[in-house]
Amino acid sequence: MDPSARQSLLEDIAAQVRACPHCRLCETRTNAVPGEGPSDAPVMFIGEGPGAAEDRQGRPFVGPAGQLLNQLLLGAGLRRPEVFITNIVKCRPPNNREPHPDEVAACSEYLEGQIALLQPRLICLLGRPATQTLVDPSASMSRVHGRVFEKDGLKFMPIYHPAAALHNPRMRAPLEADFKALAAVVKDSL
Ligand code: URA
Repeated sequence: MDPSARQSLLEDIAAQVRACPHCRLCETRTNAVPGEGPSDAPVMFIGEGPGAAEDRQGRPFVGPAGQLLNQLLLGAGLRRPEVFITNIVKCRPPNNREPHPDEVAACSEYLEGQIALLQPRLICLLGRPATQTLVDPSASMSRVHGRVFEKDGLKFMPIYHPAAALHNPRMRAPLEADFKALAAVVKDSL
């Protein structure tokens, strides 16, 4: 499929997300956050769910965790406009609680559609909820972070969520190590 056709199908998904009534999160959102990035992005990042800044702006990772993500991306030799960024749920869970399983399930058709269109060479999973949703429901981050898992013809790399280092400065070093591992995989597979 040519990139402009793919871009227009990604925009169709984004329009459906913005009007989505499928779970309770639509009742409390200001803006849904479909995700963003080029339709030929080789690397896709999937986080947990929009926070307050993302809900206000309708864009993923634009708050404090997003600022840190941008820095870590640069350290991995990636620029944010080159990658596709989204979340397992597209609307903010109230008080930044973890998304409930039925909310993740209600949103999965959008994420699956985005992955099928993008066919990224590598999918980077930011944090436990994204990792458990896409790789293994019982995965523990301390065991799987920084490693590559192949599933359904796709490559996944779970890494710690940037917000972890905002809450606990001791997480900064493992997070940087994860982005180094990511840089090595990206270099090999692109
Ligand atoms: N945290 C996430 O998981 N996703 C965002 O979009 C912002 C913060």
